[in-house]
Amino acid sequence: MVPPPSLPCKLCSGLSLLLTLLSSYTIVVSSLSIGVNYGTIADNLPPPAQVAAFLKNNTIIDHVKIFDANPDIIRAFAGTGIAVVITVPNSEIPSFAASRSTADAWVADNIAPFVPATRITTALVGNEILHSLDKNLIDNLVHAMMALSGALVAAHLHKIRVTTPHSLGILEVSDPPSAGRFRPGWDRAVLAPMLAFHSRSRTPFMVNAYPYFAYGATTLDYALFKPNPGRLDNLTGLVYTNCFDAQLDAVHSSMVKLGYGDVDIMIGETGWPSAADNNQFGVSPADAMAFNGNLIRHINSGRGTPLMPNRTLETYIFALFNENLKPGPTAERNFGLFKPDLTPAYDAGVMNTGDGGKRGRGRGRGRGKARGRWCVPKSDVGDAALQANIDYVCGSGKVDCKQIQEGGACFEPNTTRSHAAYAMNAFYKAAGQQDFDCDFSGSGVMTTVDPSKRFSN
Ligand SMILES: *[C@@H]1O[C@H](CO)[C@@H](O)[C@H](O)[C@H]1NC(C)=O
Ligand SMILES: *[C@@H]1O[C@H](CO)[C@@H](O)[C@H](O)[C@H]1NC(C)=O
Ligand SMILES: *[C@@H]1O[C@H](CO)[C@@H](O)[C@H](O)[C@H]1NC(C)=O
Ligand SMILES: *[C@@H]1O[C@H](CO)[C@@H](O)[C@H](O)[C@H]1NC(C)=O
Repeated sequence: MVPPPSLPCKLCSGLSLLLTLLSSYTIVVSSLSIGVNYGTIADNLPPPAQVAAFLKNNTIIDHVKIFDANPDIIRAFAGTGIAVVITVPNSEIPSFAASRSTADAWVADNIAPFVPATRITTALVGNEILHSLDKNLIDNLVHAMMALSGALVAAHLHKIRVTTPHSLGILEVSDPPSAGRFRPGWDRAVLAPMLAFHSRSRTPFMVNAYPYFAYGATTLDYALFKPNPGRLDNLTGLVYTNCFDAQLDAVHSSMVKLGYGDVDIMIGETGWPSAADNNQFGVSPADAMAFNGNLIRHINSGRGTPLMPNRTLETYIFALFNENLKPGPTAERNFGLFKPDLTPAYDAGVMNTGDGGKRGRGRGRGRGKARGRWCVPKSDVGDAALQANIDYVCGSGKVDCKQIQEGGACFEPNTTRSHAAYAMNAFYKAAGQQDFDCDFSGSGVMTTVDPSKRFSN
């Protein structure tokens, strides 16, 4: 007989929290997902095909962004279903703007051969061009984006979105968020026509938002999405509990001022290093884990931001790997979720079930057990069916049901739904953790939400 699984009581309360949420909001999150930047400024990274297989098999990462259009990488993601965002090099911008046929040729060489096998969703035109202060690139940027868009339409690839990432250096004012506005000069000359393009083509405006570059001695918890007093926007009365939302709302407010509040915002980069020079305050594997772990939960909650409630925020963590050849301070080489040997730099919660999850667990944190996958009742299933599941499980000999009987550690809350959640998950674990072990005649559903952590901020 399989020994009864031991479920810590954190699970009982976490599950009831999840169930409350499932029944009141019916947001059934069946899986977490996140994007990453796959940067390659390193001489020790595994081959792209190995990276692609690893991401697909072992992680919740299902979209990646690359800083070029490296055909080896694009090809490696063929057939994986992982969405890929590619980047047109800065150097192409003047020629795209000068002639559509240059963009046509680039699409024919760099995109057309790889689709649809590789799911290319987005093509970025250059990287942080306004930040570069290169007048020739800045002046040609919007025309280059329009040329690429035209070339994609002509090649019947109109579903590939065209955008370009900006640093938050485009903001003149960012605090409080509702007072956000773009730098004068760029606002009318570049950003207004760019936003008009995004609005017309229904493509997102992309920003790189780093609370890491904005925190101070008193605002670390605010930057890491940890409990904190919050900050009031005294113009709107909205309270911000994390810096990431405040940064995005400052961008949104700036867009509203130009008349483009309807354009979606996509986050091309955000992240936190796990090491820096001189024992920098706020930088450690635990801090990086807090930022990225809480970010993933925040993004997947679907809550959006105070000024953009319920908006989907497609987000790419910087970065997939620690990149040993990046110049600059130590932090630059330590933004990775993974080391080059594909072991996690810390447990950010990006590993999937099984093998990979275990690998993530060893790394110094008490909440490994809550990782993984859970079997819970569907929100629309009634008590009679749930009671039948309890009776089935408790009579199966596979699960010891003392915990949900009076006096047991998981008896409270004393509801059929809560007891069924315990029983069904315990059965799923004891039976071998196959998805079909959670079927229960269609009344059970798998979730990868960590119920004890997910709604903590
Ligand atoms: C991924 O899974 C496939 C199929 O199960 C297997 O062939 C492959 O070796 C796995 N790759 C990695 C990197 O785990
Ligand atoms: C809001 O707070 C800022 C300082 O953070 C202050 O300069 C401004 O006058 C305040 N505005 C209102 C309407 O209270
Ligand atoms: C956001 O979603 C919640 C939960 O579904 C809903 O109650 C609320 O009205 C939504 N807000 C907006 C602005 O759509
Ligand atoms: C538990 O709930 C059941 C059904 O509502 C009820 O009959 C029973 O008295 C409750 N037990 C306790 C100890 O509250």
